[in-house]
Amino acid sequence: MANVTVIGAQWGDEGKGKIVDWLASRADAVVRFQGGHNAGHTLVIDGHVFKLSLLPSGIVSGTLSIIGNGVVLDPWALKSEVEKLEGQGVSITDDNFAIADNCPLILPMHRDLDGLREAAAGKGKIGTTGRGIGPAYEDKVGRRAIRVCDLAHLDTLDPQLDRLCAHHDALRAGFDQPPVDRAALLEELREIAPFVMRFAQPVWKRLKKVKRAGAKILFEGAQGVLLDVDHGTYPFVTSSNTVSGTAASGSGLGPNSTGFVLGIVKAYTTRVGSGPFPTELDDADGQTLGERGHEFGVVTGRKRRCGWFDAVIVRQSCAISGVTGIALTKVDVLDGFETVKICTGYRLRGKVYDYLPAHAADQAAVEPIYEEMEGWQQTTAGARSWADLPANAIKYIQRVQELIETPVALVSTSPERDDTILVRDPFMD
Ligand code: GDP
Ligand code: IMO
Ligand code: MG
Repeated sequence: MANVTVIGAQWGDEGKGKIVDWLASRADAVVRFQGGHNAGHTLVIDGHVFKLSLLPSGIVSGTLSIIGNGVVLDPWALKSEVEKLEGQGVSITDDNFAIADNCPLILPMHRDLDGLREAAAGKGKIGTTGRGIGPAYEDKVGRRAIRVCDLAHLDTLDPQLDRLCAHHDALRAGFDQPPVDRAALLEELREIAPFVMRFAQPVWKRLKKVKRAGAKILFEGAQGVLLDVDHGTYPFVTSSNTVSGTAASGSGLGPNSTGFVLGIVKAYTTRVGSGPFPTELDDADGQTLGERGHEFGVVTGRKRRCGWFDAVIVRQSCAISGVTGIALTKVDVLDGFETVKICTGYRLRGKVYDYLPAHAADQAAVEPIYEEMEGWQQTTAGARSWADLPANAIKYIQRVQELIETPVALVSTSPERDDTILVRDPFMD
């Protein structure tokens, strides 16, 4: 089995985009299978920076890139991202890019609702990206969604729009908002339809052909396991399943095709938005991690919260997602710390936990138990082989590996594509 599924093992922003781009040159197809343009993936190639939200990270290297049915697609966001990347010299054609025809759409009413709910929630807000992700997934499971294939049948869309707008108009009335302007929506859909339909196809069929030809498929997850709607820090999560299992249902290839599960793990921890974060640091160390790691969100520009590495949540993520091996990223951000800490367990009401309990109040109340290790003063930035790493950095990586009970397959030492150490090739496994 030569396929690889990449997922984030923390709260997102682990460096998935960099690793997917690096692996994409060895793959024949890259498939996004969940999430939407809430994702923000940064690629750096020879100093050139590419920021992707909706397009699979394989697009920059020219690898066949596919948006699977599990994604929620904002057609206008897609168009502006395609135009932005074309402006950076990336070629996007119906040869190298495909969209599942059964993919649900994010419409302006979804973004409206996301914003209205967050504003009304005040301090209890989720801190969403405001992209309409949650409301769009609700309409998908509520069987009210407008999907990509509907764009080819706009003349018969009325009954579907009736159902969808009836639902939204009732919610909007509760927020003192006017009903959806149906005529304007239909007109906007008419305008955008040809752009989307150029790429639309039964993706499951395309993937079946790719698979039969013996090609290597790379599944690209967005967000991270702790943001999974079932397994994450509910309700402070996104509205999709971010775990590896979704690669199958969100693309239309069976679970026997998703291959090596590569968990992307940051050498410390970050989170954007609200919700529990046991190892969060409000002190100078947290500040240093944020500054050295340039921890600002790609999508919203928000400052990411920072903290020490939490082995408990990563061990849990690796188990839940069946992670075969991890890519440990941003090791270089820890350079220069006199000591570094790893959370190995939690304390809650006098009891020690080796996992994150499910209840939100417990998740907010757990106290991290740390072990401290000596840091390293030499730089690891740009290291491309194990031999380039200082002894204490190696000790740290080995301790991480031990605590999360999962081997390290790759180590990343800078944002640049090739500043990557290969320990075990996921495609050869
Ligand atoms: P993603 O959402 O998981 O794709 O991650 P993001 O792109 O949102 O955030 C990761 C950030 O870290 C990006 O700015 C990357 O360019 C950067 N990055 C990735 N790997 C490394 C690394 O090993 N070292 C450093 N210093 N930066 C990295
Ligand atoms: P990538 O793919 C980090 C977070 C939001 C918020 C919660 C719900 O770049 O790792 P949503 O808009 O999805 O309803 O917001 O999820 N979130 C992310 N955090 N990285 C992401 O994606 C995220 N996508 C959503 O900040 O807390
Ligand atoms: Mg990101």
